[in-house]
Amino acid sequence: MSALYLILHTLAAVLWIGGIFYSYMILRPVSAQLAPPERLKLWDSVFHRFFAWVWGFVGVLIASGYADLFTRFGGFSSPGYLHGMQLIGWVMIALYAWLYFIPFRRLRRSVAAERWSDAAQAMHPIRRIMGVNLTLGLLITAIGVAGPYLSL
Ligand code: HEM
Repeated sequence: MSALYLILHTLAAVLWIGGIFYSYMILRPVSAQLAPPERLKLWDSVFHRFFAWVWGFVGVLIASGYADLFTRFGGFSSPGYLHGMQLIGWVMIALYAWLYFIPFRRLRRSVAAERWSDAAQAMHPIRRIMGVNLTLGLLITAIGVAGPYLSL
């Protein structure tokens, strides 16, 4: 059964972090070539679709992570790297939830009302959090994969 938890956990992590990488490193610089209304409408639609998936990835990561933690690692008395994973994981999830409920909602409202400078303002914290979560996502992946071999 643990194999199933691990497969679901890894797929959700790969898709979440891969999606952030693509948005941040590829689409962001290319979208800068567009005029503000087109660029902001594009991001509004991109995030609307991507974030619906991210809620699913977050649910799968938490459920499969704790199922694996309790069936294979004895719960909260697990090795140190799994405490690091939980800490970084919850920080990523909290940042994402804040991003979704505050600046992303502001972006949605501003784009719908065609208030472009407001929409551009809302993009700043979103961009910053995407950058932070990309870094944390790479770190948590290294911890998850290498942790068992480093006896942390
Ligand atoms: C917040 C609660 C979380 C818990 C309880 C948790 C728990 C676990 C457990 C038990 C493992 C297996 C470790 C092993 O096989 O030695 C694992 C591996 C892993 N986790 Fe998490 N995790 C959490 C969050 C996350 C998040 C948010 C991400 C990424 C976005 C993530 C990415 C990974 C990766 C990439 C692995 C390595 C999988 C592999 O070895 O193939 N985890 N996690």
